Amino acid sequence: MASEGYKIAVIPGDGTGPEVVREGLKVLQAAAKKFGFKYEAKEFDFSGARYLKTGKLVDDQDVAELKKYSAIYLGAVGDPQVKPGIIETGVLLKLRFALDQYINLRPVKLYDERFCPLKDKKPQDIDFVVVRENSEGLYKGMGEFKDKGAKNEVATQISYNTRKGVERCLRYAFEYTRQRNKRKKLTLCGKTNVLTYAWDLWERSFKELAKEFTDITTDYAHVDATTMWFVKNPEWFDVIVTDNMFGDIITDLGAMIQGGMGIAAGGNINPQGVSMFEPIGGSAPKYTGQNVINPMAAICAVAMMLENLGEVKAAQAIENTVIKIVREKLNSLAAGKMGYSTTQVGDLVVENL
Ligand code: IPM
Ligand code: MN
Repeated sequence: MASEGYKIAVIPGDGTGPEVVREGLKVLQAAAKKFGFKYEAKEFDFSGARYLKTGKLVDDQDVAELKKYSAIYLGAVGDPQVKPGIIETGVLLKLRFALDQYINLRPVKLYDERFCPLKDKKPQDIDFVVVRENSEGLYKGMGEFKDKGAKNEVATQISYNTRKGVERCLRYAFEYTRQRNKRKKLTLCGKTNVLTYAWDLWERSFKELAKEFTDITTDYAHVDATTMWFVKNPEWFDVIVTDNMFGDIITDLGAMIQGGMGIAAGGNINPQGVSMFEPIGGSAPKYTGQNVINPMAAICAVAMMLENLGEVKAAQAIENTVIKIVREKLNSLAAGKMGYSTTQVGDLVVENL
């Protein structure tokens, strides 16, 4: 840590983003005091709201500025008044791509069985991590229309996979599995039976790397079967590695089995650069300004950020406190049903830290 502390770029964003980020920052401040690290936070107003006012998205100058920070803390971006696709590509994906955050790390951990929609599953049954490739695949934006609007129109959308991109993601996943040190099992989630170019490259690279990581047990599951196992036997998983699109889809299901979007956090990670941490749910416009949204996912994102910065004790303490509050206080993890307001949940975490 630099003597003047960490520099945190904060992007509260739209909808309920600012409300959950406020609680996350309260917890960050309390953790800094307790664990003796320093930081300064600076707010950036990238959002759908700013786009509606100014037409501005995230540009290269913004990216250059963000590169000076230790980490980025994001609430949520997206405004129902903006046509779908603009804020997603112009803000969120722009940041992920321009900062080369090539890993999207999404832990799926059940803290309290009361909040699991699956029958008879307990916290020890649902505890795995999805390593989602975050810079390529279908998200690359490659494709075209032919004869747009005509009867014989064709639209293509290409999944772009480079050996370098695949290998760096797989290597991260193998190393993460080793360092997590639980069951040391890494599952490749793909679709080798149909998508025979992309998944051939993934599978070959996976098998090649596995030779270097002889302490890791490897496994393979098709993506459709993976969704089935998430519901039927989630206890089979330790770490899962997959591409951008499949990772997007299976982590929404993952969020549901861990108790919902109110608790699911993720990190967009550039191991050599600036990483960005966020609750994985969206801006939830219908709950905006009501002080009812669950801030726990945003608080868990702070814990992930601190772990990434090397403040492991603080990160662990925050997670333990979240578990305690979830188990001992909350009636539900859903907006408006927690038995507490957004600010009260943040206060409970601070008081118990
Ligand atoms: C997510 C979101 C984004 C994604 C959207 C908003 C572009 O669904 O973070 O999972 O698809 O990655
Ligand atoms: Mn998603």
